[in-house]
Formats: sequence, structure tokens, C-alpha cells
Amino acid sequence: MIDLRSDTCSRPTDAMRKAIASAVVGDDVYSDDPTVKELEREVADLLGKEDAVYMVTGTMTNQVGIRAHTEPGDAVLFDQNAHVYILEGGAPSAFSGVLPRLLPGVRGVFSADDVTAALGVAHRFFPSTIPAPVKLLCLENTHNIGGGKVWPLAELEAVCAVARTRGLALHLDGARLWHASAATGIPEREYAKHFDSVSVCFSKGLGAPVGSALAGSRDFIARARRFKQQIGGGFRQAGIIAAGALHGLRNHRERLQEDHEHAKLLANGIAGLPGISLDVSSVETNIVRFGVTSLSASNFVEKLYEKGLYVLPSGTDGVRAIPYLNITRKQVHEAIDIISAVAEANAGSSGDPRPSPASTGANRAAGY
Ligand SMILES: Cc1ncc(COP(=O)(O)O)c(C=O)c1O
Repeated sequence: MIDLRSDTCSRPTDAMRKAIASAVVGDDVYSDDPTVKELEREVADLLGKEDAVYMVTGTMTNQVGIRAHTEPGDAVLFDQNAHVYILEGGAPSAFSGVLPRLLPGVRGVFSADDVTAALGVAHRFFPSTIPAPVKLLCLENTHNIGGGKVWPLAELEAVCAVARTRGLALHLDGARLWHASAATGIPEREYAKHFDSVSVCFSKGLGAPVGSALAGSRDFIARARRFKQQIGGGFRQAGIIAAGALHGLRNHRERLQEDHEHAKLLANGIAGLPGISLDVSSVETNIVRFGVTSLSASNFVEKLYEKGLYVLPSGTDGVRAIPYLNITRKQVHEAIDIISAVAEANAGSSGDPRPSPASTGANRAAGY
């Protein structure tokens, strides 16, 4: 089975397993796990922040970040397809008690004008106590539902500048910030410097089994540590897994370009097939999203699965595939062959009733 469901499906390399096996550990809750501390220091330095805190998942680092920036009843600006808003179990409402206010991003990218419009204008005739105060803006780079879209730096700077002027805190969901840097050559810290907090993941492109980090100022991270503990995130001899994260951070950032090439190869190999809708230029990093027009996405991925290719449906007519470090070039070619076989066998098929008419695969708001 060629598993392209997610880069989270990566397995540790032998070298990573060795690093894990020989990790020096302490008790993270007592702040004396040396490997966790080493990881937190390296991440903070890499991102140009004072401190960082290691946690189990990207969901936890994002949501602890949101909680630490806000109080219940505050409003937060999210892109309408943000992972933190759509794919983290409703945590902004359940854990932080905040009101999501949505921005009309295109593949995750919204404009400074969108932010200004969402914030509205203050006027002495209108009591400022009526709307929920907007305290935080969240941005995702690269953007998952947006198909691995990299935020153009100039637009990111413009958005952050407006948010700053209006007194908002800024959080970056950088689960795949490494990929943005690998694609553009812009160092992670150049993106990170515009944000008060940055969440990064080791368990995706970097191939570690577990973990994410939240970076920010010393005071902010001290507050975040409290919420990490509050949701049961104190994980004792976490150095065992932090060693895998450290290994990924030190050894696997440089190879991400290979995943990007594999994603492009896959996209080029399937773009012209019947019943497949895919703009190859939209594949900027490791995520390939395409539309299917001859079958529903659910049916299409079932047929791929029968032939040995495991990918995810996304919404009614979208499919997602993500190469990562255990996926070889040969497997990408095999994946192309399987998709070709299914697409050609079902070319012109109209016997698969779907809730929405055939489209370009853009209806992916509910997808992964
Ligand atoms: C952009 C983005 N942010 C956050 C997460 C959450 O990470 P985790 O699965 O570790 O909770 C993901 C997971 O895929 C993601 O794609």
C-alpha cells in the first residue's frame, strides 16, 4: 500500500530510532528533561524567539497559543479554511471560549483590507462594548486546505502590519513553516518575526513520531506552560520523543525539497487525465489537492485503495495526497499509474450521484 494520506504517516528512520533509544531524559513537568530543554532552545533560536515549549500535537500548541492570547468572550480572526478553526475539534470555542470571526481567504491567503473590513471602524456614536473585542489574528503558512499554499511575504507583512496597528496579537500556525522556507529560501525566522507566537510541527514533514512546539516571548511561553499543564499536557520523560523531534529538526529540513519535487511529479503525472481537475502551478510544496469530476471523491478514493493507493477524500469532489520522507520516487510513479488507471476506467462516468454538480474540486471546506 502506498500511503499518501498525510505527511503525519511518516515512520522514524533508523538514525532517528537510534537517537530516540539513547535519549537522556528527566521529568518535563519539573522542567528538568534535558532533551526537551535542548529541543525548546533550538526551536526558539531557529524562530528568533525568546522561548519555546514542546507539546504532543500541533492542535495542542495552536490551541494553547490561542488560549494564552485571549480570555473567554474575546473574538479571534481566522481564515475561513484555517486548520485551527475547522480541523481542531472546535477547540477555539470549547477550550478558549472565543468567538471565531472569519476572513475570506483564497487558498488561505486573505488581504490587509479583509482584516480592516472585519475589524470595522470605531465611532463615538457606537458603544465599543457591543461587539466581542477582537484580540487575535491567526494565520497558517503553508496552508493545508489551501493545498500547501505559501503565503507571499509582502502580503503576510501587510496583514500583520494592519493587525498590529489595531492592537491585535498575532499567532502563526506554522505546522509546515519548514516547507514554506524550503520552497522560498526565506528563513523561518523571517516569517516568524511578524508574530507573537508560532506553532511548528515535527511529526509532519520532519518525520518525527510525535510533537510540536509553541514559540514566543519568555512571558508568553510561561503563560502557555500553565495552559499546557491545565489540559494534561505535562508529559514527564518526554525526552524520549523530543529526541526524535530534535533529530528531524537537525537532519530533515534540508531534504524537504525532495517531497516538493515528488508532489510536482505526481501533479504533472495526473493533471491531464480524464475527470481530474488540477492546476499544476497550485502545487507549491508537498500537498497535492485535485478535483474529481467523473466520480464522487469518496468513490474515487475507494477505487484507488482497491489498487493499493491510500489517499484522503476532501469534501464532495476533492482528493488530497501528500508525499513525505518514506515515499520514494518509484512509489510516486506507481501512484500516478494507479490514478491513471482509475481515471481512465471511469472517464465520462455519470452514474455516481453526488450532492453537488461536477466542479473544479474547489468545494473542500469540510476536507482535511
Ligand atoms: C496546518 C496544520 N496545523 C495544525 C495541525 C495539527 O497538528 P496535529 O495533527 O499534530 O494536532 C495540522 C495537522 O495536519 C495542520 O495541517
